Amino acid sequence: MSLKIVEAVAPATSANLGAGFDVFGVALDALFDRVTVERMADRVVEIEVYGEGSGEIPIKPEMNTAGIVALEMLKYSREKCGLKIRIYKGIRPGSGLGSSAASAAATAVAVNDLLGLNLSPVQLIEFAALGELASAGAPHADNVSASILGDFTLITSRKPLDVLRLKLPPNAEFAIALPEIRVDTRLARSVLPSEISLSSMVHNVGRAATFVAGIALKSVEVMGKGMVDAVVEPARAHLIPGLSNVKDRALKSGAAGVSISGAGPSVIALVDSEKNSAERVALEMREAFKEVGVESRILCAKPGQGARIVRVE
Ligand code: HSE
Repeated sequence: MSLKIVEAVAPATSANLGAGFDVFGVALDALFDRVTVERMADRVVEIEVYGEGSGEIPIKPEMNTAGIVALEMLKYSREKCGLKIRIYKGIRPGSGLGSSAASAAATAVAVNDLLGLNLSPVQLIEFAALGELASAGAPHADNVSASILGDFTLITSRKPLDVLRLKLPPNAEFAIALPEIRVDTRLARSVLPSEISLSSMVHNVGRAATFVAGIALKSVEVMGKGMVDAVVEPARAHLIPGLSNVKDRALKSGAAGVSISGAGPSVIALVDSEKNSAERVALEMREAFKEVGVESRILCAKPGQGARIVRVE
């Protein structure tokens, strides 16, 4: 008997983590999107959005992250049904915390189950990455990889897509400040250089390698040293008021490393929870934003599980 409704949740994620632009991602256990996918007789895709920032999310399927994923998966399946998709946003859109990726990831996982497609994790990531086109203008797969697989993910190859998942040390915790400003992902990508210098490349390869070496060595301190980006973050810094002060305060209050989260405006600090308090780091970042007249929400998160089915009917 074919399934009628499948519901999935998918976590917020932070991409880049310094020098890992479009490559590194980590699933955060503090925030989720929930998506319900229902089989319909009519061959259409309908979207309803509830929760955080739902008013600003387009519901036309071709313009909606989850809608694009559903349309592409339906096409692939050759099923002659339609889908009703209800998205419950727990992650603010345009936060730099993988809001669109979580909707795309939960939709991919739910549609896969509903239509019995038996897709591999890499196929699910490819479908979910198509959804990123709607929000970022590019099918980048760093957020959706972490949102689908959980833990820390590393895109080892984009074409063909190949992704590694690694467990972070148990004492790796994140402090996040989400300022009450908007940074459009398309704009944040449009300010990036199309070419970089050899010295920037050498810098970033060294830092990205350091981050991964830190994971292998189970050293949060070494991971933190890798969170320095000479290419993307400097080009985006002007989009986030007070960024350098926020980063300074995070490091002075005990963070091992700190960077813009994804395309921003959130700032994410890595904390060794055995040595320092992530909450204290987050509070310091909030104070630093306040100094430039920007209110922010703060949260602490651990690396978390990937997208999963929570209801089947
Ligand atoms: N890697 C992407 C970017 C992440 O920095 O544009 C967007 O969340």
